[in-house]
Amino acid sequence: MEFIDLKTQYAKYKIEIDARMSAVLAHGHFIMGPEIAELEAGLAQYVGVKHCITVASGTHSLEIALRALGIGPGDEVITVPFTWISTAEVIGLVGAKPVFVDIEPHSYNLNVDLLERAITPSTKAIMPVSLFGQMPDYDRINAIAAKHGIPVMEDGAQSFGATRDGKRSCGVTLIGSTSFFPAKPLGCFGDGGALFTSDDALSEKMRAIRTHGGLKRHHHPYLGMNGRFDTLQAAVLLAKLPHFEWEVEARGSIGARYSGLLASVLLLPSAVPLVTPGNTHVYAQYTVRVPSRDTVAAKLKELGVPTAVYYPKCLHEQPIFASSGSKSGDFPEAERASREVLSLPMHPFLTEADQDRVAEALKDALAA
Ligand SMILES: Cc1ncc(COP(=O)(O)O)c(C=O)c1O
Repeated sequence: MEFIDLKTQYAKYKIEIDARMSAVLAHGHFIMGPEIAELEAGLAQYVGVKHCITVASGTHSLEIALRALGIGPGDEVITVPFTWISTAEVIGLVGAKPVFVDIEPHSYNLNVDLLERAITPSTKAIMPVSLFGQMPDYDRINAIAAKHGIPVMEDGAQSFGATRDGKRSCGVTLIGSTSFFPAKPLGCFGDGGALFTSDDALSEKMRAIRTHGGLKRHHHPYLGMNGRFDTLQAAVLLAKLPHFEWEVEARGSIGARYSGLLASVLLLPSAVPLVTPGNTHVYAQYTVRVPSRDTVAAKLKELGVPTAVYYPKCLHEQPIFASSGSKSGDFPEAERASREVLSLPMHPFLTEADQDRVAEALKDALAA
């Protein structure tokens, strides 16, 4: 059994993917070839915003967004301590300080009740994460941010395709950012990411920063980077995009079926992921909570079920963020999650038989 089955996906879409990639090999425009603009138009339409800017990775996209917002030394950016390192890493890369806010136990997303008290005169952005594939309450987050005149950017690396009140992830805040890392809901065959906005000026600035800080050759008004998305990877995504909505629906059904199978097996509070009313979940990860997590994971491995731990350590406990002013004990829900979470095999091609096997193995592992 695969944790994420990219081989089956390639076999299903092989004809389209190979044709798209061959077209790039034939025309030879490997850097910013025509597939880039075609993909950006398709993705902007899918998300429901005016502009999409593809970039080299989901880490580049977050950094480009922060730079475009003018965030730098002396500034604070609010985010969560329970996420992938990139979310806070980029805040440090632009010279600003991450300020962490604890998560809700049932969604693993930012606890909006705690947000306002974290805002200071130095807060220059709020960067919530739509963790594991579902969005936090962006209506409330946007309202609090607007009251204080602070921009919001979604780290939607794991939630591409998810909706909240019918609006798609990456289209609900001033800037949305996603990743096309192969294991993500919409993955390419290498690194990649994208930025989304309906703000014309920000779009132009982010587009310029992506390409060495300028849109005209040999004219560089901003400090930029080589942050371009690869044309061959754009070709892969153009072939996958027509199938994406089907995959999103399959992910939702598989996640719901897992929860049906496991709710009575797993007894810790918030043990199966809860989908907040109004949300759809794309289950980039299907994550449960178990006691003695590392023992259960080892037993599952013996039983032939691959698992992963996202994330065994909170960001405020990482040595690089020791100077953020937070210490162990400050974010009890994030810290409890880091001890209890276990992600199970999840992809749109997971069969019911394999799901049943995972559920049985989990029962056995918990009883051992
Ligand atoms: C929450 C989150 N943010 C940012 C990233 C960074 O994306 P990438 O790996 O494409 O740089 C990831 C990817 O792992 C992620 O999960």
